[in-house]
Amino acid sequence: MKTLKQISILLLCMALFLACKNKSEKTEEENTADIPVSREMKAELTSPPNVPRPVGRRKAKKLIVNMEILEKEGTMTDGTTYNYWTFGGSVPGSFIRTRVGDEVEFTLSNHQDNKLPHNIDLHAATGPGGGASSSFVAPGHQKTFSFKTLNPGLFVYHCATAPVGMHIANGMYGLILVEPVGGLPLVDKEYYLMQGDFYTAGENGAPGLQSFDMQKAINENADYVVFNGRVGSLTGDNAITANVGETVRLYVGNGGPNLVSSFHVIGEIFDKVRVEGGSLVNDNVQTTLVPSGGAAIVEFKVDVPGTFIIVDHSIFRAFNKGALGMLKVEGEENKTIYSGVVQEGVYNSVDDNVQKMPKADKNVKVASSNKSLAQKMESGKQIYTQTCVACHQAEGQGIPNAFPPLAKSDYLNANTKRAIEIVLKGKTGEITVNGKKYNGVMTRQTISNDEIADVLTYVYNSWGNNKTNVTKAQVAAAKSGH
Ligand code: CU
Repeated sequence: MKTLKQISILLLCMALFLACKNKSEKTEEENTADIPVSREMKAELTSPPNVPRPVGRRKAKKLIVNMEILEKEGTMTDGTTYNYWTFGGSVPGSFIRTRVGDEVEFTLSNHQDNKLPHNIDLHAATGPGGGASSSFVAPGHQKTFSFKTLNPGLFVYHCATAPVGMHIANGMYGLILVEPVGGLPLVDKEYYLMQGDFYTAGENGAPGLQSFDMQKAINENADYVVFNGRVGSLTGDNAITANVGETVRLYVGNGGPNLVSSFHVIGEIFDKVRVEGGSLVNDNVQTTLVPSGGAAIVEFKVDVPGTFIIVDHSIFRAFNKGALGMLKVEGEENKTIYSGVVQEGVYNSVDDNVQKMPKADKNVKVASSNKSLAQKMESGKQIYTQTCVACHQAEGQGIPNAFPPLAKSDYLNANTKRAIEIVLKGKTGEITVNGKKYNGVMTRQTISNDEIADVLTYVYNSWGNNKTNVTKAQVAAAKSGH
């Protein structure tokens, strides 16, 4: 048992420790305005997903930032373009990296070919409008103002010219990082990504140049929700990369204008999240909220190889509106951390309820097997609408990176028997359709031979396919393995 003396010494030590800790934290916060600057340097600006070099141990400086506003047409998704308004030519705009105590001399130039005046509100700046009122600039002009970075953290900047929502919706946002004294701890890989929601006159995927739709923006009814300004900015060859054993740090922003992001990396756990881009560190996080006009810094060590999918876990945005990216990790597997498939086999439960879709509505009229093509088309369309449309979509176009198209599908048209078998038995594993790889799961469909013949006949006689008339007998033959 401890003596009274021991306990009082312990308490005294704790009190002293807490007093010192409070004092040092307070001193640092109070003094940032007094941090002296020595010399000046030109800021390195980068377009996403790249970030400038860390500040490291450099002293506070006068940091010269030259940012040019460009209004320019760019790709939203394959076949669809949009008139983006940009800081530095990219969406999000150029990444700015400073340290606390820097005096940022900011020159905003509005390109002479632009149509509108713009300005900038930097959430890292302390002052009216975050610089907005001092930076309002017409096409063919430039404005300079300066501010001292008082608070470390990851901050959003954006245009604040009326109508503010429209300027942001057109891509006028980016991130500015203010590192603490001595810099953030070094990591192996750093990337910049920022979510934004877009509102277009045509629906998602409508071709051609799409104009901004103000009413949809007011209704918060986004056609696109994307990382780095467009669908596919971080997928395929654009994926960000790392090697097994490395620590990855993502500077994640959300420009909005409307939607809050539930930021998540599938198959990873964030070892650290600097919550809302501030000084609070949370450990072991699955999904972190990134507010509109806010940010977060997430860090994680990658332990196993593979493709890790980056999403807004408001998940229809990821799979239907574009908020999907990829982190590709290369290196040695570690079967202890992740085994992969260890065993695979046939499974038949007693009630036969595994991996089946609900049975198609019994109201579907299935007449004799001697139906005309028109009758089969009508019946097939009903079955398609009830059973297939959620994944393969109304015009058989599928969903990119998730469900293969049935329209003009080389895979489908090459082999009728294979198509019948897939409907009968389901399909798992990688296939290539029209040059694109898909690796998903199609459940087997519990519909009758007649219904399978009808729905496949409908699919084969729609959307540019080869007009095969699939018979009930063909389905029966495939079922019995012939
Ligand atoms: Cu603007």
